[in-house]
Amino acid sequence: MKRAQPQPELPVKFALSLKSAQFTESVIREMTRLALQHGAVNLSQGFPDFPAPAQIKAAAKNAIDADVNQYAITWGAKSLRNAIAEKFQRVQGMAVNPEREITVCCGSTEAMISSMMAIINPGDEVVVFEPFYENYGPDAILSGATTRYVKLRPPDWSFDADELAAAFGPATKAIIVNTPNNPTGKVFSREELEKIRDLCVQWNAIAITDEIYEHMLYDGAEHISLASLDGMRERSITINALSKTYTVTGWRVGWAIASPEISASIRKVHDFLTVGAAAPLQEAGALALQSPPSYYDDLARNYLVRRDTLLKILADAGFRCFKPRGAYYIMTDISAFGFPDDVAFAQYLVKDIGVAAVPGSSFFRDSADGNSILRFTFCKKDETFRAAAERLAKLKIAK
Ligand SMILES: Cc1ncc(COP(=O)(O)O)c(C=O)c1O
Repeated sequence: MKRAQPQPELPVKFALSLKSAQFTESVIREMTRLALQHGAVNLSQGFPDFPAPAQIKAAAKNAIDADVNQYAITWGAKSLRNAIAEKFQRVQGMAVNPEREITVCCGSTEAMISSMMAIINPGDEVVVFEPFYENYGPDAILSGATTRYVKLRPPDWSFDADELAAAFGPATKAIIVNTPNNPTGKVFSREELEKIRDLCVQWNAIAITDEIYEHMLYDGAEHISLASLDGMRERSITINALSKTYTVTGWRVGWAIASPEISASIRKVHDFLTVGAAAPLQEAGALALQSPPSYYDDLARNYLVRRDTLLKILADAGFRCFKPRGAYYIMTDISAFGFPDDVAFAQYLVKDIGVAAVPGSSFFRDSADGNSILRFTFCKKDETFRAAAERLAKLKIAK
């Protein structure tokens, strides 16, 4: 995670938030801006550059034409909450009450920060696996949580059970679990989730699970919702969104599923943060969630082809790749290129070679832990891969 540096050029007129002073703007989003500035092929930020499904776009247009243009119910349009409950039951076998256990938010991003603000008190600790999705660091700071990190170690990004146990204690309020995982592509196994479950039960902690890549699974990997394990229903907050599954990252519709008590707190935070997510897009979301199983099979199959295409391009260019079993990112080791660190190499790549990727350090608390890593995304079309391959062919391995 990039720590904020003092900015002497700004006139010191007001005392600004000590919380916001502790983190910087997102490195991932910054790489997209650099890609635009330098005309680079953008393999940094995780948004598809191919169209969203036609029927989902049509549903959004129809909803606007039907004048679904005013505030939806704060915690989500009934049609969407019903569709979320129905899909969760169908896919994870878990019945949830759409009236009391679902809060629709502005993307899973808002679902995460609303959830954290809804449960954290001063002195509370939150366990986070590292490397982690960039947002969790600022989420912890903004909600006032102290973070305890547990390492996921390559090549398979497994964790040490004793290290995880040592991170839990009387101050533990929650653990954040992101499966399938960004940035590593790890998919947590049932055995691993059971270890997490046992610690949550032992220490009376909540699991906040970010499951936004639930349908992007490869090589036989299976996605299991932690909430579906015995003992976890009442102590889980399950976060998901339309963004990745339906190729609509710009729509900003996500949700949190939790017990009525936890949901009541999330709903209050959500209400005063944003009031609600875009009403017509919620209606389109209700239709999207009713997609047949073949939709999700095709999605995974298409992403598998993209994964293998990018793995080959990167390996041919000299990167050592960690093959992901889920999500749509590839972590790579960049040692062969002889650069001092990940940021220097990412800058060279975007400016001189014309390909944008994310420096590994942005996924670690201590940047040294990520300084030989770059993350590439493969949610891109063939044309983008061809352009990236041409440019990456210019890279030279250090002697
Ligand atoms: C793990 C993870 N969670 C959440 C998000 C953001 O999701 P949303 O667009 O629903 O806010 C991303 C986006 O890349 C992500 O990788």
